[in-house]
Amino acid sequence: MIRARIAGVGHCVPEKVYDNAYMESIVETSDEWIMQRTGVKERHISEDGVYTTDLATEAAKEAIADAGVTAEDIDLIILATVTPDYFTPAGACVVQKNIGAHNAAAFDINAACSGFVTALTIAKQFIEAGTYKNILIIGADVLSKATDYKDRGTCILFGDAAGAAVVTATESEKGIMSATLGANGEDGHNITCLAYRNDEDEVEKRVSHRKDTMWMAGSAVMKFAVKIMAEAADKVVSDAGISWDDVNLLVPHQANIRIVDGAVKRLKFDRDKVFVNIEKYGNTSGACIPVALCEAKRDGRLKKGDNVVLVAMGGGLTWGAAVLEW
Ligand code: UT7
Repeated sequence: MIRARIAGVGHCVPEKVYDNAYMESIVETSDEWIMQRTGVKERHISEDGVYTTDLATEAAKEAIADAGVTAEDIDLIILATVTPDYFTPAGACVVQKNIGAHNAAAFDINAACSGFVTALTIAKQFIEAGTYKNILIIGADVLSKATDYKDRGTCILFGDAAGAAVVTATESEKGIMSATLGANGEDGHNITCLAYRNDEDEVEKRVSHRKDTMWMAGSAVMKFAVKIMAEAADKVVSDAGISWDDVNLLVPHQANIRIVDGAVKRLKFDRDKVFVNIEKYGNTSGACIPVALCEAKRDGRLKKGDNVVLVAMGGGLTWGAAVLEW
């Protein structure tokens, strides 16, 4: 049976930083509150004129080089984003042009913070079906461009980044061992950013009244995230036919350190085996997990043969998890 595996990873993070001192200067907050309630110290912010596909292109180039393939080898590009450059063309098509992946099909998906795991799950299906051999998946967002910097409840959380991976066919028995996706549209109103709609109540509840900014019912989302991330992670470990003792690293979406700690506590998993970099980047949506994978690899926390669990929850509401052998 053909399996799918991650053959290479890449990332791109803008240089400009908003630290907690800067956040204190624009809204009524404190470094102490932000650290205690979220774990975020700094967020990276794209310059004016730098958009999702710019970061996505750099991350893609790095992932292709890391995988030891060329852009021509890529059969499909999936870009997960909620901050697209255009409604059309899809960002994946812009990346295709930028990197010269002339043989690739390309499309975008919208699953917010679960976007990278969703793209990985789609790639797994195409590869196991024998349709494609090399799929470039990217999680990229410039949330700073959709952030209400008058809303202290959200502006302290978000940053910009892109992360990418090349998913390749393998005859190994392992690779991506299991994956799951889910959605709860009933509670989708808890995280919103409007496009054409002009719902008055949505515009009204934003501090800046700018409908194209992210609004979130933070506490409700946080409670749901802890529960669903623990459940989804547990499901994929069990579906993979392994136990938590066999898991070398858990890479959760980095939305809030309290969500990570809450989910890990529910799972009774060893906190030392959890990758956390939220202090440096905040919540970068679909980029969190692939950026974390790049850093875990670079830091030697991810070694060949390790069993890794990925888990995310985000707008939609959506969630996803996967177990893979590195
Ligand atoms: O990526 C997936 C989607 N996103 C998430 O998963 C994020 C989930 N939610 C969160 O991270 C947290 O809910 C927040 C960080 C957004 C908020 O933390 P919280 O512990 O849920 O606080 P809260 O919303 O219940 O607010 C508690 C108090 C409020 O004041 P009062 O009403 O008690 O006087 C807020 O106004 O904290 C206040 N507050 C702040 N104070 C200082 C809210 N934001 C701030 C702030 N600085 N930045």
